[in-house]
Amino acid sequence: RKKVTINTLRRMYEKGEKITMITAHDFPSGLLADQAGIDVVLVGDSLAMVGLGMEDTNQISLDDMLHHSRAVARGVRSAFLVADLPMGSYELSPKQALQSSISLVQKGRATSVKIEGGKEIAPTISAITTMGIPVLAHIGLTPQRQGSLGGFVVQSKTAAAASKLLSDALAVQDAGAWGVVLEAVPADVARLVTEALDIPTIGIGAGEGTSGQVLVQIDMLGNFPSGRFLPKFVKKYADVFEVSRAAINEYKDEVKAGTYPAVEHTYPVKEQEVVAFKQ
Ligand code: KIV
Ligand code: NA
Repeated sequence: RKKVTINTLRRMYEKGEKITMITAHDFPSGLLADQAGIDVVLVGDSLAMVGLGMEDTNQISLDDMLHHSRAVARGVRSAFLVADLPMGSYELSPKQALQSSISLVQKGRATSVKIEGGKEIAPTISAITTMGIPVLAHIGLTPQRQGSLGGFVVQSKTAAAASKLLSDALAVQDAGAWGVVLEAVPADVARLVTEALDIPTIGIGAGEGTSGQVLVQIDMLGNFPSGRFLPKFVKKYADVFEVSRAAINEYKDEVKAGTYPAVEHTYPVKEQEVVAFKQ
């Protein structure tokens, strides 16, 4: 497959072809996404929760993101690689954000960075894009700001909030973002915002009217124990956790029973060597 570039994504958008995006957190998950033919792979800071067992995304550092982004990059051959700017790596100034973005490209091997925020972050987006690093914006439910949002709650349910979302979308577009993630907003609002923009919208919990979709890989694979809370928008395409748990359980039982390893898992040696060794 040919390498997906910013131009490929632009052409998809212009043709009305949906852009597919999924997260990856390490080498195998990056390889999987790439081999499945996904267009954009995101090293999302959601890895704090689904990959590192942290309580929220605000506990992950830029160094953590760099470590994981490098691993994902080793598995990604064709897809367009985007890495999240984590909390604390961009808010202080456009200069800080540019420095962190350069690290994600240089050390994290990402092609593009993603940043949470609307109008207030536009000058920052502009500082990064004018230096030649593509930026994906992220508005609506912005998990890094869950403290002020009151948790993981649906955004833009009122006309006033939807207008704010639209003006944020226009501001990040004007600042040079190549696209914008819309998270947890009503489908009708996401469609109207998509129609108002000249850049692709990537939806998560935003209905089918966006230019593309993104899901957290571990969520859609069902690679977590049953009973965990799952947002309404997640479709579980597999039950990888259960498959893995059953496999490990079987291994454990076979070791206890002495049926693993069998002869075919064992290195042979000539009989006379054994006899000599015993003496
Ligand atoms: O961190 C993440 O996985 C994300 C996506 C949900 C868009 O930001
Ligand atoms: Na994120």
